[in-house]
Amino acid sequence: MTLTISKLGDRLGAVAEGVDMNALKAGDAEALRGALLDNLVLCVRGQKLEPQAYFDAMGVFGKQMPQPSASSNHPVVKDLLILSSEDRDVLGDGKRIVVGAAWHTDDSYRAVPCSLTTLYGVEVPPTGGDTQFVNMYAAYDDLPDATKARIGPLRVVHKYDSSRKGNKIAKRTAEDMAAMPDVIHPMVRTHPVTGRKALYLNPNRMESVVGLARAESDALLDEMTAHATQLKYQYRHKWRQGDIVVWDNRCTMHKANGDYPQGARRYMLRVITEGTAPA
Ligand code: SIN
Repeated sequence: MTLTISKLGDRLGAVAEGVDMNALKAGDAEALRGALLDNLVLCVRGQKLEPQAYFDAMGVFGKQMPQPSASSNHPVVKDLLILSSEDRDVLGDGKRIVVGAAWHTDDSYRAVPCSLTTLYGVEVPPTGGDTQFVNMYAAYDDLPDATKARIGPLRVVHKYDSSRKGNKIAKRTAEDMAAMPDVIHPMVRTHPVTGRKALYLNPNRMESVVGLARAESDALLDEMTAHATQLKYQYRHKWRQGDIVVWDNRCTMHKANGDYPQGARRYMLRVITEGTAPA
């Protein structure tokens, strides 16, 4: 088997084939990391890994870190998160919940969000359940100079349970909520590895722009979100069983789609890797 990497989308996304994450060959790790940095989203096709082996294998991309949720943690490998068609709001109304159904970047409610997310498609539905991604470098690059000058110094309050959130989120315990105070991040961040600037938005967690009146803040956040989520910045991933998709939260946003047929099963395992405070 020889590793090949090919483009998936026009603005982001690549696929790696001819690689077994159980037994990487010399040079493959470097090539995968490079492909991720260049393409922002990387799908590694055709993998078959036990949960612990998957968790360990993701160390090739970065240092794995604990997951924020307790209710959907894997029963054996506790730092793996399960995302599934069976997800329910167990502490709330008990109803079905589609995690990440609105545009977001992972973990921005933390002072130091994860850098990468990896999602392993253990079982995927026959149709639907795609994940959409946007390229936040390109969204930033295309802004008029006057807008870049305006938003460059701005900072945004991110909140776990934002009043602006676009989808229902699972109810958390009072203890969990107390451990997640609001945080402030720049609206434009510089990627610590590539040095490129990217819009740093999370429509699901952004509460307000520091120093702006509510109406002006809402208008600006809406405008930036509408700009960044245009079709021209998107890649839409259609899952195949055995795909591991890795994305860089420092320069992308993504959203899940819960549009698969009723009764179809979607079962994914998620690992996140350590990041640095956005700057
Ligand atoms: C997520 O938002 O982290 C999940 C994406 C997905 O399930 O497609």
